[in-house]
Amino acid sequence: EPSTGINGPAPNVPRWLTTSTRLLHEGQVVALPTETVYGLAANALAPAAVARIYQTKNRPADNPLIVHVASLAMLRSLLPGGEIPAVYEPLIRRHWPGPLTLLFPASPTVPAIVTCGLPTVAVRFPAHPVARAAIAYSGLPLAAPSANSSGKPSPTLALHVWDDLEGRVPLILDSGQCAWGIESTVVDGLRQPPAILRPGGVTLEQIRRVPGFEACQVYRKNFTDARLEQAPTTPGMKYRHYSPDAQVVLFERRTDDTDPAAEQDSALTEALRAALARHPGDPVGILTVYPRPASWQTQVGGATPAQIHFRAMADEGPTSDPTAAPYTKNLFRSFREFDKLRVRWILVEGSAETHEGLALMNRLQKAASTVVLYP
Ligand code: TXA
Ligand code: MG
Repeated sequence: EPSTGINGPAPNVPRWLTTSTRLLHEGQVVALPTETVYGLAANALAPAAVARIYQTKNRPADNPLIVHVASLAMLRSLLPGGEIPAVYEPLIRRHWPGPLTLLFPASPTVPAIVTCGLPTVAVRFPAHPVARAAIAYSGLPLAAPSANSSGKPSPTLALHVWDDLEGRVPLILDSGQCAWGIESTVVDGLRQPPAILRPGGVTLEQIRRVPGFEACQVYRKNFTDARLEQAPTTPGMKYRHYSPDAQVVLFERRTDDTDPAAEQDSALTEALRAALARHPGDPVGILTVYPRPASWQTQVGGATPAQIHFRAMADEGPTSDPTAAPYTKNLFRSFREFDKLRVRWILVEGSAETHEGLALMNRLQKAASTVVLYP
């Protein structure tokens, strides 16, 4: 332990930090906040510690983990020859620390249990001060998947970690609600053109503004380029993810016409009313992008509003403030709250697949059992 004077612990080091450091050095797992979702962290360089992560959240053994670092020196320690590929320099300068994960060639110092034997290692430099301090003070790169039990929506509150992993994690660092509420963007810049393997907190539009990434694509199964099709992708995306227990029905607009907002809105209102009429009286959750006024809720919910629970992904209506929380923030939280309310269906308003909407719709399309395209 770091010390001042002869023996005592350094002053001003909070107990959570000395405790998490001790546990991480002992090979235990620690649940901690990041700006995206809560992570279940362990020493990435100790295979037995990493094995605990898989056991704790019941994760399939073929789904590799992201390694979290708190400095570029720590990143270099994971790479062959300590070299950061030149292609990543502008991206790192612009978006680290932040909700962005990059694929690097893995050096032999990275245990195979982290990468599942892939030649690459996924690395992220998180912005959250608690995550950064836990990494920096322990001096350990931390492997950390989302701290949910496998198949559940990612946790965005410490309470969610508790709900999923109670009794299986010796320490949960509670730092309130995660700002993004959705996982990091996974980018493979080692392939040409670069590709987003998982859309997330940093948007495609933002990445394309970075030199060298202007042609960045979103990886989709039916790429036209055979070389892209063959290159390894993100194994985690094949699993059914982000699913609440209730059936999710996603309402997407049928066209991208630029209808007046009011007209579009009445089409959604009608589609939701028709869905509710199918099983009157059943408990239903309705999740909209932005909060809706009580008058709209009454219009949709009709005579049995007690059975209908409204939530919004964003805390407040659209704003031009670039520092405002994104509307992905309450997505997973709402799923979990609806499950606690034991709703049978969750009816969700979709959004355009631009900016944060790309990551949002990626998660919603995975969670949905039915998509309704409304006029
Ligand atoms: O925001 C996040 O990324 C959160 C926080 C805790 O950092 N972590 C997270 O981890 O979402 P996880 O394990 O739930 O998702 C990691 C994704 C998976 O889809 C996995 O397959 C992919 O990253 N991945 C990890 N290593 C990879 C590699 N070498 N090549 C391709 N994909 C990889
Ligand atoms: Mg996950």
